[in-house]
Amino acid sequence: MLQVHGLTKTYRASNGQEALAVNGIGFEVAKGEIFTLLGPSGCGKTTTLRSVAGLETPDAGEITVDGVTVFSSSGNIRVPTSKRGFGMVFQSYAIWPHMTVFDNAAFPLTIPGQRRKYTRKTLDEKVRRVLAVVALDGFEGRKATQLSGGQQQRLALARAIITEPPLLLLDEPLSNLDAKLRERMRFELKRLQRELGVTTLYVTHDQSEALALSHNIAVMNHSVIVQVGPPTEIYERPKDRFVADFVGTTNFIKGKVAGVGNADGMSAIATDFGTIDLAHRGGIGDEVLFSARPEHIQVHRDAPAGPSWQAVIETRNFLGFHQDVELRLGGALLQARLHPSLKIETGMNVHVQIDGAQCVVCA
Ligand SMILES: Nc1ncnc2c1ncn2[C@@H]1O[C@H](COP(=O)(O)OP(=O)(O)OP(=O)(O)O)[C@@H](O)[C@H]1O
Ligand SMILES: [Mg+2]
Repeated sequence: MLQVHGLTKTYRASNGQEALAVNGIGFEVAKGEIFTLLGPSGCGKTTTLRSVAGLETPDAGEITVDGVTVFSSSGNIRVPTSKRGFGMVFQSYAIWPHMTVFDNAAFPLTIPGQRRKYTRKTLDEKVRRVLAVVALDGFEGRKATQLSGGQQQRLALARAIITEPPLLLLDEPLSNLDAKLRERMRFELKRLQRELGVTTLYVTHDQSEALALSHNIAVMNHSVIVQVGPPTEIYERPKDRFVADFVGTTNFIKGKVAGVGNADGMSAIATDFGTIDLAHRGGIGDEVLFSARPEHIQVHRDAPAGPSWQAVIETRNFLGFHQDVELRLGGALLQARLHPSLKIETGMNVHVQIDGAQCVVCA
């Protein structure tokens, strides 16, 4: 539905300094999906989104929506933002301060081209429905300036979706909400997106938001896309150290290939606390770095069946629905995520197993 090819944008400051914000990136978003650009601050996410919106003019590249080219540097095409007809919520969202919540949400339906589609009654129903979706029902008569930052953000979202645009562009739309509301809004956004079937390009630096919401994620770093795939693939099979580290929490463990060659592409990796079998093709003696997620490290009070190593609990954080521990295993300090019912204390000697099948070599 949305295709971006070879998108490049360099900002030039008046003092002549240049910043390469996006460096030849490309991706495709299928109809009806939520596609997320995820990456650290300054990696080029907003620039990409603004280019799709038509608010930035890229130096090079092509952007096509539903088969229509809205930007092409070689074809000299640049369709203005107003003609693209996308719904947008930007990082610095603008709502109309002099209008009420109701009028803000209704605004896109009152402009020429939209107005005739609605009677007073259908307009009223539609506005109330989107305001309920963003949990602003009951606020209809309030002035927009009398809302909190998070409420204003939700109002901006209501206004972006009310016309049911073909493409929705969302730049950190939940960043100003408290943790609880943000979680609820993730569900609401997902439900709403599914109901409307609206193709959505979503920008966030919050990895759990990206994992929870997206059909596909493009992980960006330093102006380029590093890996594209569905959330499970990005999380379980990160392509390199950056992705493994940025998406989720992980332990990096150093080792050397000690044995190779069985049929399913597994190698025995010797670490300073023991040997782990994991998927890797390499030569004996090769140095590797692999990632082991905290939830793939099992901790037992008593020695379990099968091989295990002895470790000491150094720190423990109880978080209600799980507990996180740091444990000393040989020379390594590893993080593990444990069930809250496991009776564990700081200083305790425990037995550790690491599930090699879940570990990923990333360098
Ligand atoms: N108007 C501008 N003029 C000059 N440089 C800019 C401008 N806008 C962005 N940049 C630079 O381009 C790079 C990419 O910026 P962009 O806003 O796309 O990042 P981002 O990934 O959205 O980051 P964040 O998560 O902080 O919002 C940054 O180095 C930024 O400093
Ligand atoms: Mg940004």
